[in-house]
Amino acid sequence: MSTMQDIEEIEKKLLSRVSTTNTPRDVLRSPDLKQLYGAIKSIPNEQRSAYGKRINDLKLSLESSISKREADLDNAAVESIDVTAPWDINSVQVNLLPTNLGSQHPLTVEIENVADIFTRMGFEAIESRQIDDDYHMFGSLNFPENHPARDGYDTFRTEEGFIAPAHTSTMQNRILKAGKAKLESGGQIGVVALGRCFRNEDLDATHEHTFYQFEGVFVSKDANLGQMLGTLRSFFECYYGQRLKIKTQPAYFPFVEPGLEFAIEKPTTLGGKPGEWLEMLGCGMIHPNVLLAAGIDPKKYRGFAWGGGIERLVMLKYGIEDIRYFESGKLQFLRKFA
Ligand code: FA5
Repeated sequence: MSTMQDIEEIEKKLLSRVSTTNTPRDVLRSPDLKQLYGAIKSIPNEQRSAYGKRINDLKLSLESSISKREADLDNAAVESIDVTAPWDINSVQVNLLPTNLGSQHPLTVEIENVADIFTRMGFEAIESRQIDDDYHMFGSLNFPENHPARDGYDTFRTEEGFIAPAHTSTMQNRILKAGKAKLESGGQIGVVALGRCFRNEDLDATHEHTFYQFEGVFVSKDANLGQMLGTLRSFFECYYGQRLKIKTQPAYFPFVEPGLEFAIEKPTTLGGKPGEWLEMLGCGMIHPNVLLAAGIDPKKYRGFAWGGGIERLVMLKYGIEDIRYFESGKLQFLRKFA
């Protein structure tokens, strides 16, 4: 049975550990604390409420010391960087940040992972732009002027007419123009553009105002839908590390014809039930007008393209329920990926 004195001693010990460790929150999982909680049952009734209150006080004081210690550790990390310092490699000792104070954001890791898979499949990976214009967002992608399909993209614009891209398809015209010479000398275009997109839409567990997409563009003399489905299947199977069932259904995007939505059956290993389909991305054969806008002859060359959301890929992989966690800056969420 634990006594008030035991609590006092354990408190001293744990507080001292908090003030010296670099992972103070771990102290809350200490076996000493568990033992104190476990002892509540064996305390006589008339002393139980005083004992419980004392343990609560101990928990509060630990919490507050932990928060203070975490803030001190964060500040120490910030203070140790002086980017203006004149370096003298003979006399300056470099203080490295403790690795347990920082980690890559899960999206950074997964964007690199996606780029890596496509690079291994022979694609060139590039970063998409974060500021663009009406022509690349709509005109070059076969959206007629004032066409209602433009409204589907909830696009942010500045007063000067610049556009925050609502999809990575804004890169298609640039990719096609840059690859034209290679195509005409007998090669193929195979590029994946990854980057941020922005939409002015209502937010919920699967919709953010700022999110990432990965866009694929492939052009050759004889590109076809079968190659596209094979490419996408290979990517998803490599990303999730298992065989997958896929299916498509017709969809409308002005820049592809035919246009499709590509879905995978949610793997049972990731909590799916047979027959539970998840729509992963939009795709299709590049519309002749999009090739023409880049100076590529649609009678000689064919292409396919796709565009998918990266957060939704990652959410399925790790069972993340709400897309808003990614941009929340919540350490509790980020530490799970550290
Ligand atoms: C597009 O953006 C097309 N550009 C895709 C495309 C490219 C089709 C090339 C054909 C050829 P859509 O609006 O459906 O399509 O978005 C594609 C994917 O982006 C969605 O499946 C989803 O994964 C992701 N996405 C779209 N809006 C959001 C949002 N607000 N938050 C998070 N992810 C989003």
